[in-house]
Amino acid sequence: MDKKISQEMTAFLKDCPTAFHAVRRIGSELEADGYQRLQESGKWTIEPGGKYYVTRNDSSILAFHIGRELGEFSFSIAASHSDFPTFKIKEQAELEVRKQYMQLNTEGYGGMICSSWFDRPLSVAGRVILKENGRFITKLVKIDRDLVLIPSVAIHMNRKINEGFAYNKQVDLLPLFGAGECRRGDFYRLIAKEAGVQETAVYGSDLYLYNRQEPSVWGAREEFISAWHLDDLQCAYASLKGFLKGSHEQSIQVYACFDNEEVGSGTRQGAGSTFLRDVLRRICLGLGKTEEEYYRAVAGSFMVSADNAHGVHPNHPEKTDAENCVYMNEGIVIKSNAGQKYTSDGVSIALFREICERAGVPVQFFANRSDQAGGSTLGNIASVKVPLRTVDIGLAQLSMHSVYETAGVRDTGYLIKAMERFYASHFEEQDGILTL
Ligand code: CO
Repeated sequence: MDKKISQEMTAFLKDCPTAFHAVRRIGSELEADGYQRLQESGKWTIEPGGKYYVTRNDSSILAFHIGRELGEFSFSIAASHSDFPTFKIKEQAELEVRKQYMQLNTEGYGGMICSSWFDRPLSVAGRVILKENGRFITKLVKIDRDLVLIPSVAIHMNRKINEGFAYNKQVDLLPLFGAGECRRGDFYRLIAKEAGVQETAVYGSDLYLYNRQEPSVWGAREEFISAWHLDDLQCAYASLKGFLKGSHEQSIQVYACFDNEEVGSGTRQGAGSTFLRDVLRRICLGLGKTEEEYYRAVAGSFMVSADNAHGVHPNHPEKTDAENCVYMNEGIVIKSNAGQKYTSDGVSIALFREICERAGVPVQFFANRSDQAGGSTLGNIASVKVPLRTVDIGLAQLSMHSVYETAGVRDTGYLIKAMERFYASHFEEQDGILTL
C-alpha cells in the first residue's frame, strides 16, 4: 500500500516543477473527479451537491464540495501550500562571462539551503504570457531535459569551503546555461520554442529553476522517500486525496492550496490574501444564504493547516525538543507554539486527535526547542482573514528547504486517511466549544 501511494505521489511530484504546474495538476485531478471550474471574474451558479474549484493567479487553488442537506452548516477546510524555495529567473536573464560562458541571472525565492543546489542537473519551468491574435494567453512551460547547472568552485580554489561558507546569491549561485557557440538570445529562443511560438509572441514570463533528480524510495526497508518539494506538496497531495474521498452532506468541504507561503503569504493569492474569505462568502451568496448565516457557518467551521514538520535529525538529535519531537513514519505531527506561529490550541488539538483516532491514524506532537525560533506556516495567517478554529499539522521530514528532501513512506497514507475522515465529519459550535 505504502509503495503504491509513493508511486502515485511520485508521479504527482514530477508533474509539479513550479506552483503553476502544481495548481494545474490539482485542477486536472479535480476535473477527473467531476469538479467544475469557476472563474473569479465570472458569475457563479452553484447548488447543493455540486463540486467546484477556482484558482487565483494560476498558482493558488480552492476547491469545494457542497453537501446536500446543509441546514446548520459549516466549512471543513484543509490548507497547504503550492510553492517552495527555488530561484526565479530575472527578466533580462542572460549574463556573459568573458565572452565564453552564458549564465542565467536569478534571484532567490524563499529560504533555500543553497549548498543543495550545486553540481546537479537543473532545468527551467514556469509560465509564459503569449500574444496570440491580438490577445494574451498563459501557457505553462517545462524544459524537460537537463539544461543548466550551478558549478562548485574547486576545493583547490577555496580551501575553506568546508569550514562554513557564506553563499552570495548574485555570485555563487548563478547557473551555467551555455558556452562557446551559445549566443545572446538563445535562452529566449529556447523558451519560445518550448511554448511553440515565435520569440516576439512572448510578452511576459515567470520562470524558475527546478531539480532534475528523480524521486527515490530508499532505506533498509524502503522506508524513506526523497524528492523535491515534499514541503509542502506531500501535504498538498495527501489532503487532495482525502478530499476526493471524504464528504458530509451537512457541511461544505474545502480544499485549499496557496502560493507564496515561502515568502510570507502576503500576496494577492497567498494565505494572507482575501482569496479564502472571498470564496467562502461567494459560496454563501451563491446558495442564497444571508450574511449572518456566513458568520454562523464560519464560527462552527474547522481548518486543518497542513505543512511539513521537522523530524529528529539523525546527526543532530539535539536540535529538537527532548519530548516534543517527531519521527518519520510515526504518524501525523500536531504542531504547537506558544507564540502562535502555529494555531493549534487545546480545542483544535482535541478535535484533530479525535479525527485521527476515528481514522485509526497515529499522531505525534511537535514544539520547537524554547531557545529556537523555528519556522512559520500558513494557518495563523489565513485565520486572521477568516476567523477559523485551526490546527497546524504536518508530516515529519528531514532537510526541509533542500532541493531534495526526505520523508517517510508510511506518513502519506496516514494523512490521506485522516483527511478523508476529516472531510467526512461535521463540525458545529455547541455551548461555546467546537465539536464534531
Ligand atoms: Co512549508
